[in-house]
Amino acid sequence: MIEAHDTINATALHDKLAPLDDQRYSSETCAQYAGQIARITRLKRERRAIVLAHNYQRPEIFEVADFIGDSFELARKAREVSDAEVIVFCGVHFMAETAKVFNPERSVLLPDLRAGCSLADSVTAEALADRAEELRKVYPDLKIVSYVNCTADVKALSDACCTSANAAKVVNAIDSGNILFVPDQNLASYVQTQTSKRIISWDGNCYVHHQITPEEVERARAAVPGLLVIAHPECRKDVIAMADAVLSTSAMMRYAKESPAEKFLIVTECGLSDRLLLEVPEKHFYKACVLCRYMKMITLDGVADSLEHLRYAIELPAEVREGARRALERMLELGA
Ligand code: 13P
Ligand code: SF4
Repeated sequence: MIEAHDTINATALHDKLAPLDDQRYSSETCAQYAGQIARITRLKRERRAIVLAHNYQRPEIFEVADFIGDSFELARKAREVSDAEVIVFCGVHFMAETAKVFNPERSVLLPDLRAGCSLADSVTAEALADRAEELRKVYPDLKIVSYVNCTADVKALSDACCTSANAAKVVNAIDSGNILFVPDQNLASYVQTQTSKRIISWDGNCYVHHQITPEEVERARAAVPGLLVIAHPECRKDVIAMADAVLSTSAMMRYAKESPAEKFLIVTECGLSDRLLLEVPEKHFYKACVLCRYMKMITLDGVADSLEHLRYAIELPAEVREGARRALERMLELGA
C-alpha cells in the first residue's frame, strides 16, 4: 500500500513512463494530464473528497489517489474513512459497493458505471441461494465464503468474505468442514491446495487472468534466464503450478521490493507492472500483457466529472448493506 502524492510533476511522470508507452505519455499528454490533475485537486478540496484507487488503475490515476491498494487494503481503508464527505472510488463496481457498505452516510462515487467485473457477473444472489439450499441437504454444516469480487447482495448471503490476500486464512478459520466458495473457480482450486476442508467451487472466472496460458509463461522463462514468476491466484491452476510465488497485487509489490531477485514476470493485469515500474525502477519487470477493460474505464476526465457532478452515486438497500457488512467484518476478523 502507498500513500500517494497529492502534487503533480508531469515531467517526472513522463520520464518514468516513457519506456512503457512513449506515444501515450508524450509531453503533450502529460501537459493535458497536469491540467486535469489540477482540476481534480481543486474539486477534491471543494467537495471534501478522497480518492481510493486499486492497483490496476492507470498510472495517471495514481497521481490523484489518496490511497492505492489491493482489494483487502481498500476495504480496510474504506472502513477507516473519518473526515471526508465524498469517496471517489477508482476501481470497479463491487469495490465501490464495499466502500458504501462501510460508509452509508457518505457519498460514494464510481466515475463510470461500466466498470464492472466478469467474476462479479458470474453469480447472482438468487442462483447462490438455490445452490446453497441444494447443497445443505447433503452438507448441513455448509458455509458460504465469497471472494470480494461479487455484488453486495451475494456478500449478504455469505458467512464470510475473503480477498486474494486472505482466502485460505478465512476458509481455514471458519467453523465448517464444507465450504461453498464463490465465484472464482481458480482461487477456489488454489485455496483447496491450502486446506483439508472440502471446497465446493462456483464456476466463475476473471476473464483477464483466465486467458493467460502456461505456454506463455514458459516462453517468457525460456527467453529470460533468472526470471522469477509471480502469479495472482485468479490465474489458472496450470499457470499457478509454474509460479515461484502466488500473491495478491499488493503482496506482489512487497515481494518484488524485498526479493533479492532482479527480474520478475508479473502474471496479472498489466496495471500492476506499471506501478512496479514507477516504484521499483532499479528492477526489471516483464508483464503478461492483459488489461482489464473494466478497470481501464476510469479516466482522469471521468474522475473530474464525477467530482463536479457528484456522479455516479452507489446506493444499496439497508438489508443488503447490513448483510454484506456482517460478511466483510467477519473477513476482517478471520483474515486480518
Ligand atoms: P487484489 O488486488 O485483491 O489482489 O485483486 C485483484 C483483482 O482482480 C481485483 O479485481
Ligand atoms: Fe474483475 Fe478480473 Fe477485472 Fe479484477 S481484473 S476487476 S477480477 S475482470
